[in-house]
Amino acid sequence: MEILTSIAEMQIAARELRRGGTLALVPTMGALHAGHLSLIAAAKRDCTHVAATIFVNPLQFGPNEDFNRYPRTFEADCAALTAAGVDILFAPSAEMMIPDGATTFVEVGGISDRLDGAHRPGHFRGVATIVAKLFHIIEPDRAYFGQKDAAQLAVLRAMVHDLNFFVEIVACPIVREPDGLALSSRNRYLTTEQRIRATILHRSLDAAADLHAHGERNSQVLTATMQQMLASEPTVIVEYAAVVDPDTLLPLADTTGSALLAVAARLGETRLIDNHLLGNFE
Ligand code: PAF
Repeated sequence: MEILTSIAEMQIAARELRRGGTLALVPTMGALHAGHLSLIAAAKRDCTHVAATIFVNPLQFGPNEDFNRYPRTFEADCAALTAAGVDILFAPSAEMMIPDGATTFVEVGGISDRLDGAHRPGHFRGVATIVAKLFHIIEPDRAYFGQKDAAQLAVLRAMVHDLNFFVEIVACPIVREPDGLALSSRNRYLTTEQRIRATILHRSLDAAADLHAHGERNSQVLTATMQQMLASEPTVIVEYAAVVDPDTLLPLADTTGSALLAVAARLGETRLIDNHLLGNFE
């Protein structure tokens, strides 16, 4: 696997790869786990070549968030990406991606202030700005993101639509631990006790999804079910438990169409998110 850190070199290398077939992009912040590797596997299935990026993006962390302690495991990440068959890794520095004096940002209005955006001001502006830059630098045919970050997907889909990026956004299913916890680079922050309690996120989603499978369509009932389950773990501080439209992230009164059950909670300093997509084809 070739590793590049310069934008100019990456632009030339990506152009070469596109000439030889289709090019997939898998953007990451490193600290790779099986969820990321499932994105690479999907990218390899679909496209001739795969480029991955590792960039811990300072623009998407708030002043009191975990930018400094975010896990950085570059050597292990490179070994995993090589084993997974990635052609090129782009791993730029912060100075390279966000040069002094840069004043242009991508703001996806509305959606960026919902769900995680409501609790992390500026987060999606940071994500959209960096992903837009990666799309311009690499010009992939397809770009792969995890369904776990459902709000991020909605923001990026809106950005691609509104700014006419010539790229297809591909969402890949959430990968879970055997006990159901969604994989996240932040799971490694959890203490043994918090790790056990963290399963309440997906158990609350499962309870609501189960009701839905038995015919319940009222969002208030589904939301109350999630909230009650989450409240059974008082040390888990809930940020949101919501039933929303997966594209706009606006609250839904009923779930006769497709709907997203989404939860976010804090265990100590660690913020976790999870979701479940409900599809009705009635
Ligand atoms: O999902 C992530 O890891 C990040 O938000 C992304 C898409 C790489 C942008 O920094």
